[in-house]
Amino acid sequence: METKFIKIEDDNFHSLQEAADIIKKGGLVAFPTETVYGLGANALNPRACGNIFKAKGRPGDNPLIIHICDLYDLDKYTNITDSDDKELVYQLAQTFMPGPLTMVLPKAHIIPYEVTSGLETVAVRFPSHKVAKELIRMSGVPIAAPSANLSGSPSPTCAQHVISDLDGRIEMIVDGGMCEIGLESTIIMPFKNKIKLLRPGGITVEQLSLFGEVEIDKAISEKLKGDEKPLAPGMKYRHYAPEIPILIVKGDEKSVCQFFSEKIRNGCGVLCFEEQIEFIKPDKENIKNIFSLGSRFDQNQQARMLFEQLRNIDKSDINIAYAVQPDINGIGFAVYNRLIKACGFEVIEV
Ligand code: TXA
Ligand code: MG
Repeated sequence: METKFIKIEDDNFHSLQEAADIIKKGGLVAFPTETVYGLGANALNPRACGNIFKAKGRPGDNPLIIHICDLYDLDKYTNITDSDDKELVYQLAQTFMPGPLTMVLPKAHIIPYEVTSGLETVAVRFPSHKVAKELIRMSGVPIAAPSANLSGSPSPTCAQHVISDLDGRIEMIVDGGMCEIGLESTIIMPFKNKIKLLRPGGITVEQLSLFGEVEIDKAISEKLKGDEKPLAPGMKYRHYAPEIPILIVKGDEKSVCQFFSEKIRNGCGVLCFEEQIEFIKPDKENIKNIFSLGSRFDQNQQARMLFEQLRNIDKSDINIAYAVQPDINGIGFAVYNRLIKACGFEVIEV
């Protein structure tokens, strides 16, 4: 199939009509959101949603998030009216939507099996990106959209990433520039007035804690044993896995830089903070094997750069890479979660 490509600039949404028409007719369109690019289909069309799984090579037991463009749609596609957590849900929605928060809620009858993979709940998100909002509005339906990458590769943070993964497999790619956040949304499940955290993201644990006790799912920071199941089915997959093995290095600052320095001299790759580069002292020959995660002091930058750098590591000719351990406060917790998953939870102490 030939994939059409359009670019939206200067809030000129005119050409989005064509994308909306594709969604209405049951086709697949990749589009930007503030977190990562999504691969969208009409969430009420089972066949279209089924095609998302085919295009991505996604396992059938990993449900999709539906994207809405109006808070009233929460009531339309979920069944929260009788729930004890109704008040908490509305408070969270009014505070964080639109934005990078996904809520897992009891599903309404019209949500098809293909969206929820048979679960009784549905994940709902109201993105804040102008192009995403406009596309959902023009389509007139909720849009089911996982990240627009091939299953197993890092989520796309710009249109070029989508092209390398999905060109020829979907009807259209809408380019809306770089994603502002760069990591997927925070996923929560309100339960008995507590907030279960299924995946950390742009809305932080600190922000959520103001609304209730936050219970962090074990799958976020630990490798689960064979019989353990994460609350979000997708968290069991080694999603963000680069093809080249990558390990987190833990230790005091001096030992870590010394370790990086030795490894870089031996032709390995290093994913580190900008500030560490001068201590690692790469020479001209192997400076290309240093992958910067941005400043130690700018966690938003780290979030924006991580997936791009994981892709760059995969494109390089190194055989192994070593990564710095990010601080875990704020959005750093999400950076850490994606990185430790990419590392298959392998950490070495120096
Ligand atoms: O930022 C994002 O959330 C992006 C953009 C495109 O919106 N989307 C995204 O979708 O990251 P995806 O499919 O890559 O990740 C969705 C995650 C998966 O781990 C899936 O298992 C979980 O959400 N999920 C979806 N529905 C669920 C449900 N009913 N219960 C529990 N987890 C669910
Ligand atoms: Mg994904």
